Amino acid sequence: MMDLHKPKGTEDLFGKSMRAWTNMQRIAAKIFGRYGFDLIETPTMEQVDVFTHGIGTSTDVVRKEMFRVFSGANLMRALEEGSDEGLKAAQRLALRPEGTAGFARAAIENTFVPQGGAPCKMYYAGPMFRGEDVQKGRLREFHQIGVEVLGAEEPALDAEVIIMLMQFFGELGLTKNDMVLKLNSMGDASCRPRYRDKVAAFIEAHESDMCPECKKRADTNPLRAFDCKNPHCREIMQDAPLISGMLCDECAAHYAAVKCYLDEANIAYVEDPTLVRGLDYYGRTVFEVEATSGVGAQSAIGGGGRYDGLMELVGGKPTPGIGFAVGFERIMLSLDAIGIDLAGPAPSCIYVAKTNESLRDEVFNLCLALRKEGFRTEADYQNRSLKSQFKQADKLNAIACLVLGEDEVASHTVTVRNMQTHEQTSVAVKDVADYLKSVQQGTH
Ligand code: HAM
Repeated sequence: MMDLHKPKGTEDLFGKSMRAWTNMQRIAAKIFGRYGFDLIETPTMEQVDVFTHGIGTSTDVVRKEMFRVFSGANLMRALEEGSDEGLKAAQRLALRPEGTAGFARAAIENTFVPQGGAPCKMYYAGPMFRGEDVQKGRLREFHQIGVEVLGAEEPALDAEVIIMLMQFFGELGLTKNDMVLKLNSMGDASCRPRYRDKVAAFIEAHESDMCPECKKRADTNPLRAFDCKNPHCREIMQDAPLISGMLCDECAAHYAAVKCYLDEANIAYVEDPTLVRGLDYYGRTVFEVEATSGVGAQSAIGGGGRYDGLMELVGGKPTPGIGFAVGFERIMLSLDAIGIDLAGPAPSCIYVAKTNESLRDEVFNLCLALRKEGFRTEADYQNRSLKSQFKQADKLNAIACLVLGEDEVASHTVTVRNMQTHEQTSVAVKDVADYLKSVQQGTH
């Protein structure tokens, strides 16, 4: 017998979880729309090079977690040759682990930021894929809603993007007590290299006490050591040099201005000079929002930052950028913990019941007419008794059940049973749509 299961770390979205995902996207469209953002959908897979150049080859996301995609023929060839290096760049594909690198590729290909043009503001919602160790709040296929702005580097924009993020969380029902906004500046190409060298030297000085991964990080990506999962390394890194005092004048002024705008807007934040983020494209402003309940160890429900160098990394002209992404599944854990039901009730419907199987055609036609009027309409397709049709109507969340019998058909009427009050009223077929609207509004 076949015994098929969903892949580890993936979930089927339907019913409540699908309604919650749809509502979250609706709230995103509402809030982000006010700030001038339009929806974009980029492919779920991209050339591997988009991610290696954009996110960075020394990041865990690219090095260990990327799901590779091959057509059958290309996989055979790679297996025969013992490597995929013989394939063309366009044949070496991966499922997107995040949305920003693919967005940057799309921005170049479609000239979203023409010379001298206004900043481009877009948002997306969809699945992302990372081959991580699965645990609560950490999946292999998860859903993000992300926003990106290209073409401006003013600190007011950084603040606006962060304010928009906090407003989005607020609209979902999270309050100041349910989350913490962490903020840092990672410096830019002129001041970060000096800081990186200092952290690398610190790791080398403590190498003997640190994990093998961190030893390697001293050469490849020393700042990642701040996020090492090994508790001993984390303890050592508490004494590592911090970027705070090492920002160049421009970066320090930019960071100060961002904080000033956030203060003006009354947005609470905690400065965290060890916040370095797991993707290589960031510079200057970075931020993360941690939920205070429900999510367990994976508490980041959203994060982002400025990536002024990314467009060049993926083959474009120098173009500043900033954005963030939030994780649907983690937000749901935190909303569940504080008792917020984002899914809302299942949709209600009108149920058309019949007293006799011979009235099947009349039911069919009445259903079509009601759907044309805009009602979600259900009926029995299994020749159930009237009693079980009523039960079914209850299960389907019907607000009214229309009962068709021979008498009703002869007199061009239907009996409308209000499922809440159980009152029954005879209504002429030509008036039934208006009557049902009044039932929906609670006036009948
Ligand atoms: P990120 O911090 O890697 O940033 O992911 C953003 C959010 O996605 C996280 O805060 C978390 O809520 C969720 N998330 C990440 N990995 C997982 C996972 N394995 N399972 C469940 N949820 C997860 C980015 O992806 C950047 N592209 C954000 C950005 C946009 N930066 C600039 N623009």
